[in-house]
Amino acid sequence: MDPPTMWRATTVQACGLWPFAAGSGAPMSGVPLGQHLHTGATVCGDPLSWFTRARYISNPSLFMLGMPGLGKSTLVNRMLIGLSATGVVPLVLGDLKPDYADTVRALGGQVISIGRGTGGINLLDPGAMGAVAARIGGKAGEALKAEAHGRVLNMVAALIGIVRGRPMDDHEQAVVSAVLHHLRERLPPGRAPLLPDMLRVLSEGPDRIRAVTLDRGDEARYRDAVDPLHRSLLGILDGPLGDTFASETSTRVDLHAPAVCIDISRIGEADTQLTAAAMLAAWSDGLGSVAASHALADEGLTPRRWFFTVLDELWRPLRAASGIVDRIDALTRLNRTLGMGDAKITHTLKDAEALGTDADRAKARGFVERAGMVVCAGLPRAEMEELGKIVGLSQREIELVSSWSSPPGWAVTGDREEPPGRGRFLIKVGGRPGLPIKVAITDTERRLHDTNIRWVQNDAVPEQQAESAYEAGAAYEGGAAYEGGAGVEQVPTAGPAPGGEAAPVNGASPVNGTAPVNGPIVNGPAPVGGPAPVSGADPDRRTA
Ligand SMILES: Nc1ncnc2c1ncn2[C@@H]1O[C@H](COP(=O)(O)OP(=O)(O)OP(=O)(O)O)[C@@H](O)[C@H]1O
Ligand SMILES: [Mg+2]
Repeated sequence: MDPPTMWRATTVQACGLWPFAAGSGAPMSGVPLGQHLHTGATVCGDPLSWFTRARYISNPSLFMLGMPGLGKSTLVNRMLIGLSATGVVPLVLGDLKPDYADTVRALGGQVISIGRGTGGINLLDPGAMGAVAARIGGKAGEALKAEAHGRVLNMVAALIGIVRGRPMDDHEQAVVSAVLHHLRERLPPGRAPLLPDMLRVLSEGPDRIRAVTLDRGDEARYRDAVDPLHRSLLGILDGPLGDTFASETSTRVDLHAPAVCIDISRIGEADTQLTAAAMLAAWSDGLGSVAASHALADEGLTPRRWFFTVLDELWRPLRAASGIVDRIDALTRLNRTLGMGDAKITHTLKDAEALGTDADRAKARGFVERAGMVVCAGLPRAEMEELGKIVGLSQREIELVSSWSSPPGWAVTGDREEPPGRGRFLIKVGGRPGLPIKVAITDTERRLHDTNIRWVQNDAVPEQQAESAYEAGAAYEGGAAYEGGAGVEQVPTAGPAPGGEAAPVNGASPVNGTAPVNGPIVNGPAPVGGPAPVSGADPDRRTA
């Protein structure tokens, strides 16, 4: 006998339904993530909603660990889509694969490519902060200008640190700061300084710069003080990083975009210096834009917006340069004041152990300790025991998650054989018992994020390309496709929307940027790309 159909709705919507209405023990705040593995109840959650509305966590930060290919990035993509539907702005500041560019595009957001020959960031450009400082003026404008100056200075120091393999000296920072002030006064308004301008000022040596080097009128003393800096800057300009960081910013972050992704996936994995530099530049630019957006909101000039940043493949930037751990550390300590939630994703705790110094290792472990929400996909038992020391895991939880790390059986030859742990996650918050969930993805989610695309057989390629070209056209051209046209998947249930209301079904699509509220409880097609929590794998078991 088939199990009875189950529906989920808020008490406002389901108050008149009879019989057999039952409460649920699973959290209902946030993006619908999937079904509870044991009870089938829909589980909702994301770091922002659990911090702001549900108050389950004291820090809007998520740390996700798990073996490759189990669906970590896919789940965070779903959070992006769901949060975007509530007006939160997803910011992927350095997408390494890319895992998020297609989603951000589908959300109507801005995708900026950085890499050799594809696009660059002018390190010395105060970016959105500079523009907003000029717009708001007064004391607030001055404060923002000073902050923008500090940000540029930090970025130059970070880049020189990457090239030298050690931090920049403090007296050199004073020189760079003086050069930046000098240039700002000389250049016409609206024209940002470039690295070659900086070199020219160092060569000319105006009095203001000489004063901070304590040259006492002696040319030789001045040259001794600035030559190492001069050489490092020349090294950047003529070296592998020059192309990307020494000219005008190719595309500025749009302060009003519904989502932003800085795609650095064209940079080769072996190119660690450029990866690290591009990542830092992307953060600096992106977080500058967040600060600028808040400054505008403080003045009442724009609505207040919250942000959600994603750091996927964390192990790569961590290994790229030693200063990066500090930057990520600072980022996570600042997130609450910046109105920003964040998700960090990596494979194992061992990624932290591979770092060069004890201090870096301790900081990287701190990311897990401080995360409000820890989400585990399949991990080997030894890893889980280790993780248990930090987040407190019961023996059953350890067994469950380690069982998800086993490979599929030998005997299976089917096309779509999946690892048993794919789409299975354990969500841990503080000392509470973990919530084990299974995530069923929609066809749209699969299309937006298929990291196995290069494993398609040759003879299947023309067919698949034709199919995705058609679907991409249908999905991105908007309109009918979102509301039940091509590629729309039947989702059996109205899951709760991130706003705590029933999810929109047949209604405005979150992909179009319209926040769904108070949608009817309908058993109809889901919004394309919208959070469709309870679809798919087990169509007879309808929960919500
Ligand atoms: N719940 C799911 N059900 C079915 N397929 C899924 C599910 N989640 C992800 N996939 C598919 O599995 C593949 C790998 O997913 P994803 O890239 O999210 O894994 P990952 O854990 O981020 O891997 P990596 O550690 O290598 O980054 C993708 O092609 C995706 O479409
Ligand atoms: Mg991934």
